[in-house]
Amino acid sequence: MCGIVGYLGNKKAYNILINGLRRLEYRGYDSSGIMLYNGELSVKKTKGKVSDLEVLYKNENDKRGNIGLGHTRWATHGPPNKINSHPHLSNSGELCIIHNGIIENYDALRTVLKRKGYDFKSDTDSEVLVNFIEEIKKSKKVKLGKAVRLALKEVVGAYAIAVFDKSNPSEIVTAKLGSPLAIGIGESEYYIGSDPSPFLEFTKKCIYLNDYEMAIISLKKGLILREITKDTILDPFIENLKHNIEEVEKGGYKHFMLKEIYEQPQSVTDTFRGRLISPSLPIKISSIEKSFEKFKSANRIIFISCGTSWHASLLGEYFFEELLRKPVEVEYASEFRYRNPVINENDIIIPISQSGETADTLAAIKMAKKRGAFLYGICNVVGSSIARETDTGVYTHAGSEIGVASTKAFTCQISLILLMALDLGKRMNTIDENRYQRIIKELSKLPELIERVLSIGEKTERIAKKFIKSPNFLYLGRGYHFPIALEGALKLKEISYIHAEGYPAAEMKHGPIALIDKNMPVVVIATKKGNYQKVVSNIMEIKAREGEIIAIVSEGDKEIESIANHFIEIPECDELIAPILANIPLQLLSYHIAEKKDCNVDQPRNLAKSVTVE
Ligand code: M6R
Repeated sequence: MCGIVGYLGNKKAYNILINGLRRLEYRGYDSSGIMLYNGELSVKKTKGKVSDLEVLYKNENDKRGNIGLGHTRWATHGPPNKINSHPHLSNSGELCIIHNGIIENYDALRTVLKRKGYDFKSDTDSEVLVNFIEEIKKSKKVKLGKAVRLALKEVVGAYAIAVFDKSNPSEIVTAKLGSPLAIGIGESEYYIGSDPSPFLEFTKKCIYLNDYEMAIISLKKGLILREITKDTILDPFIENLKHNIEEVEKGGYKHFMLKEIYEQPQSVTDTFRGRLISPSLPIKISSIEKSFEKFKSANRIIFISCGTSWHASLLGEYFFEELLRKPVEVEYASEFRYRNPVINENDIIIPISQSGETADTLAAIKMAKKRGAFLYGICNVVGSSIARETDTGVYTHAGSEIGVASTKAFTCQISLILLMALDLGKRMNTIDENRYQRIIKELSKLPELIERVLSIGEKTERIAKKFIKSPNFLYLGRGYHFPIALEGALKLKEISYIHAEGYPAAEMKHGPIALIDKNMPVVVIATKKGNYQKVVSNIMEIKAREGEIIAIVSEGDKEIESIANHFIEIPECDELIAPILANIPLQLLSYHIAEKKDCNVDQPRNLAKSVTVE
């Protein structure tokens, strides 16, 4: 959570910082702030969005300076107000910090600093850290780089920081543990970001800091990379980024979420590129090829993840058990890491994460690693912490997802998991050849099928209009559609603030049916094949209680059309592919309801895109 951005070079830092903050706003939007240095150090900050911060910069003179730091906050310590906003200054006003993460021992450090005469304006752990650095710098008479390193050795917690010292205004010191930090290298200029989006149009050369690394970035001396605990100098690894700037712009859509929904045919094409080349050729996922023996001999596969990625994991369980005939478990990373789970070397753990930075998933990985499990990661963000912490894995290649509500990343996760399950099942001989051929043929047409589903956009919008005042929703699905019902409910509640519950359709009669009356909209996924007739019976039960039924059905289904109040058709397809398609109208429905309610679709209240705190 929180986005950090920095610049030092010859350009006007303000422009880079404010654009960078707009792009990083998905990481938190409780408050934002900028520090600029132009002979004098100036800090402006405010509660609210980056657009509120821009209002403070009406005067061009205030925008001067070629070095600066910016921050957009997701509040942890203290309410989202101006005082708690970053950047934070040290007591002398010499040092300035931006921080993403949590300093867990900040209270103890604050007590020590208070005894030495420091006082604190904010409730934040970050203000404690900048003063702790100042105290070390002064008492040990060292330069900023060394002071930061010595301070961080005493710190417990997580951080991505950038620190500026007014007495050496051509340098910024950065460091990372737990939270992400990328440095863009230009011609005699440097960019800092929580991800590379603030500098994509300026440079493709990027260094991702690893945990316990710090970079002293100086316009005079260049960049020096150091290991924090051992104090050794490291060789920076400069990556050539493949992202492009269009990925982080809205491209004419009202919201990123809508753009990302409509990008799904292309995203899935990218997920399958080089992996599903043609139905007649074997699936090619190199990390599966290399770790096949591990999968074959594994006693158990455990998916771990959070939120939407957990729903992808649940569908993964259904796919893997069906096609591999191996025992599979699905765990919330936050529960798994704090239990004392029985894990051993014959277990394969599959963490799934869009951002690759989710703190609970990362901690669960570290714990499972210590216990000897083999870790196979599924991530979207290339070079992310989870991608680096796992033994091997596969990228979803969904492209940058900016909308806080995950859409295309989820679709790519479940498409990829199905492809993996087919590949493994074929290699292990646990799937019938004819069935394999049938599914693979349909799967290779998935982008076109998704395109067809997206053509129902307007119909979904019309249906959405009727429900903007509904306070509650139920989502029901059986078998492969159950995880999709959960995901549909999550999507609706997170962006429209309507309370929604997902249930296995058959569970309805064990309790939730009590909620059904004429004011309760019930979304039922009821495609042909699988448990179709049983779901039809569930729909009849809802109808008998006057619930308002929105059914997701296979094209041409006259039976449900005659019963449901509203119906949305998706192409008829194999029952393993149907959940991928069924999820798309649910995304559109949530989007249109939230948009019509005038909610902030891309930045729903209280949420952030990557949850880097526990
Ligand atoms: O980046 P991750 O996939 O690890 O994130 C996990 C959840 O925080 C995320 O899926 C969250 O539930 C989204 N807001 C869902 O739209």
